[in-house]
Amino acid sequence: MLKEKMERGKQAIAALKDYRGGQKTEANIKTLKENMKYFGYGYIKNADETVPPIGINFWAFRIMVGLGVLFILVFAVILFVLYRKDITRARLLQLAGVALIPLAYIASESGWLVAEFGRQPWTIQDMLPTWAAVSDLNSGSVALTFFLFLFLFTAMLLVEVSIMCKQIKKGPEL
Ligand code: HEM
Repeated sequence: MLKEKMERGKQAIAALKDYRGGQKTEANIKTLKENMKYFGYGYIKNADETVPPIGINFWAFRIMVGLGVLFILVFAVILFVLYRKDITRARLLQLAGVALIPLAYIASESGWLVAEFGRQPWTIQDMLPTWAAVSDLNSGSVALTFFLFLFLFTAMLLVEVSIMCKQIKKGPEL
């Protein structure tokens, strides 16, 4: 099955190359249309390349979902406590809430790993493998956008932390 896809992908790539080279014949267009959905497989050299890194996905997915379930449980407890007693006195729950903050980032990063490793080797599923999708953008442009984002997000982090500190100092309205 994979071998057939690879073969048909190669035919599609060749047909597109010919088409671009000026061979706009019906037969060429027909070959391209028939094999287009396997286009990306034409770049695959061996079967291993079509398998994403299983171990990373296995653990990253479990960490993300495990933490997601933990958050749901904790929020259920918070909701319960909110209706039952004064939450500003539920010291243990407050500590747990603060302890959970870094876990949200870990869940987020794990989710990102799931998405990025899980899609390997594709940039566009079945169409474009990552190694064929390398752009010819020069490194200066990449560096520029990187530093712009770094500057912007650092500024936003500082603003956010200062707003949070102000609110914490003010304390809850009782
Ligand atoms: C509660 C159970 C959860 C389930 C079932 C779940 C499911 C998924 C799935 C299936 C993906 C992959 C999507 C894709 O690329 O096709 C994903 C991605 C992601 N998840 Fe989760 N998730 C859960 C909890 C969380 C939590 C708690 C966070 C963060 C606090 C999180 C953050 C992310 C992020 C950032 C991505 C990557 C999105 C992207 O870059 O496309 N997930 N999640």
